[in-house]
Amino acid sequence: MWNDLHKHFAKVKDRRFEAMVDADRAAAFSVQAGDMRLDYAKTNIDETGRELLLQLLDGSGVAAKRAAMFAGAPINETEGRAVLHTALRNLDGGPVLVDGQDVMPGVLDTLARMESFAADVREGRFTGQGGKITDVVNIGIGGSDLGPAMAVKALAPYHDGPRCHFVSNVDPADIAGVLRQCDPATTLVIVASKTFTTIETMTNARTAQAWMGQSVTDTGAQFVALSTAADKTADFGIDPSRVFGFADWVGGRYSLWGPIGLSLMIAIGPQAFRAFLRGAQAMDMHFKSASWLENMPAMLALVGIWHNQVCGYTTRAVLPYDNLLVRLPAYLQQLEMESNGKGVSMDGADLAEQSGPVVWGEPGTNGQHAFYQLIHQGTRVVPCEFLVAARGHEDDLHHQHQLLVANCLAQSEALMRGRTLDEARAKVADKFEGAELERQARHRVFKGNRPSVTIAYPQLTPEVLGQIIALYEHRVFVEGVVLGINSFDQWGVELGKELATALQPVVEGKKSAEGKDGSTAALVGFLQKHGVS
Ligand code: F6P
Repeated sequence: MWNDLHKHFAKVKDRRFEAMVDADRAAAFSVQAGDMRLDYAKTNIDETGRELLLQLLDGSGVAAKRAAMFAGAPINETEGRAVLHTALRNLDGGPVLVDGQDVMPGVLDTLARMESFAADVREGRFTGQGGKITDVVNIGIGGSDLGPAMAVKALAPYHDGPRCHFVSNVDPADIAGVLRQCDPATTLVIVASKTFTTIETMTNARTAQAWMGQSVTDTGAQFVALSTAADKTADFGIDPSRVFGFADWVGGRYSLWGPIGLSLMIAIGPQAFRAFLRGAQAMDMHFKSASWLENMPAMLALVGIWHNQVCGYTTRAVLPYDNLLVRLPAYLQQLEMESNGKGVSMDGADLAEQSGPVVWGEPGTNGQHAFYQLIHQGTRVVPCEFLVAARGHEDDLHHQHQLLVANCLAQSEALMRGRTLDEARAKVADKFEGAELERQARHRVFKGNRPSVTIAYPQLTPEVLGQIIALYEHRVFVEGVVLGINSFDQWGVELGKELATALQPVVEGKKSAEGKDGSTAALVGFLQKHGVS
């Protein structure tokens, strides 16, 4: 099937797809899920290409894999774990069995504990030594940071709880900058770490503990832990009543829906958090029941596979025309690249095709004044993924929102249409002539024929944010199955961690750099000369 797809692309790659984009295509090459619309009409995928992609999908066994995931089978084979982040939002969906045990009573019990704690913090029943909690500091990294940090920002219009801060980097500048803004007596510190061993998080947690200990008598009382490792949270001195646990079948980058979302719940309140879960649950139900052609995560995955593995476009720009989604690209970098950035398939053989794409992006319209130059006129094709809401939250500035929407739609149109040499000549014909006109015109040509998809929704509410994130999670799942990848492990992060541990005493000057490669030894020498040790 891959061969057929490559052959088909070779046949159609030079045609201008703009000619195909009429109203019928807009209807046929779009998908509706709940309130959301995915438009992939502005791509070079035609009926034949789509049929081949759908055959590829069918042949990958994705239906059985999807059923296995929702049923709690250990599809994360290299770690021998089930993959059940969907259970965290299965609010009224019945039992979910892992090893014959229904996990839902535990999930709902933890959710209820989180809700009660969040309400206590928000309503001043849980206090710090100095009274009502004014600031929450979430210390975590990767999946224990990016999800809640992205979602707290995205749902800022619903934020009516204490201020939320996020510390992730081991760079002391990160934690120092946050703690300077907080009063220890009214700060709640959340240590978010699935394993409770991550060096960045544990280092920052100890720094926060020392900071609080300078003025707060019972520091432990203002600490909360979110983790699967109850023994380690106890060793750290956090009372079990303030530990919110979860199981190993929740992957770090899929963990926002449970305890790792506590900071979000405190920010927006338990009710809005439930709406967020319901949005995700609605996307789960859509993913489970819609035919592949009508299935938004599946079609989004197939469009991505067409662009990355078939056309060879190695990166994908995520461009939210929704400033509230400013952290979405960073969040998706972990979700997509940590999940599908693998070189071997499930059975250990080298991947037959490329792994998942490089994902990057920034909100529009900011990006337009930065890197869009390359997207429009650079020699590489960068498929773009636009996200746009019909309405923002600033009702009195709706005309400004309309300008934002116009910009979003204009970009996908410009990428597709481009500007011909004749059109470019006409633009500058009054200023130049002869060879200079030709030269100037060529700089103003846009080749066009550049693909994009647009995800449109009414407004970025908690429900819609839940739908968007679940959409991307399932897209990653489908892409992983088609490529034969285990999307749920992350062995590629290990080597750097091991080498950093070994290098620490060298950097500190307690051990020589002997045995290190010449470049690393020289860099250590330079940094030591300038004060690192
Ligand atoms: O190093 C990668 C990683 O394991 C991610 O997968 C994870 O989200 C992050 O580190 C943080 O892990 P933890 O929540 O265990 O601190």
